[in-house]
Amino acid sequence: MPVQIAPSLLACDLSRLQDEVQAVEKAGADVLHLDIMDGHFVPNITFGAPVIQKIREKTQLPLDAHLMIENADRYLKDFADAGCNWISVHIEACPHINRTLNEIKRLGMRAGVAINPGTSLASLDAVLDDAEFILVMSVNPGFGGQRFIPSALERVRTLRKKIGSKNIQIEIDGGIKRENTKEVTAAGAEILVIGTGIFAADDYKKRIEAIRQEI
Ligand code: DX5
Ligand code: ZN
Repeated sequence: MPVQIAPSLLACDLSRLQDEVQAVEKAGADVLHLDIMDGHFVPNITFGAPVIQKIREKTQLPLDAHLMIENADRYLKDFADAGCNWISVHIEACPHINRTLNEIKRLGMRAGVAINPGTSLASLDAVLDDAEFILVMSVNPGFGGQRFIPSALERVRTLRKKIGSKNIQIEIDGGIKRENTKEVTAAGAEILVIGTGIFAADDYKKRIEAIRQEI
């Protein structure tokens, strides 16, 4: 499958949400990445299902909700009803991860597991039969615009080997720019979440094209 580019709306001008969503869609984005933060699991608060429902009305792109929240199980149906297509939950925040992944699938969405830079990859062994994608954090989650943590590259390579022939995509999130696109895709990342690396550009289309050139 070709590498997919997922702009993170956290970095857009939220006062012009509809324009920004439609601009990245027109610019060639493959997926829209939505960062959901609860102020508990991460030290920041963003938005929830009601905002996603409004975004859903404005775009055809698949919606990829990255849940940085505690008690994710309680909100899965709300996110499904709001029109999310993919959901990732953090392994650090889900005590019954296999049950959670199966519930995401039962609700008709793609199920992903997100993992923080400080969490051992061995914790993923138990989800390789249930996860459809794995989101490797390359920053500590909570904020956009942070610097890429270089050890994430080796983690992607190791995970790629661990996945073997299973049908699991690797998504990478945090500090991805045109400058490190080549390295992260060579390591095995197939979905690139990019916030400031796209929304800080004057011309989103040119920036997305430039990123694709690197792959
Ligand atoms: C961080 C979020 C990211 C963030 C990426 O907690 O999960 O999706 O928006 O932003 P950049 O690309 O600016 O690091
Ligand atoms: Zn994210």
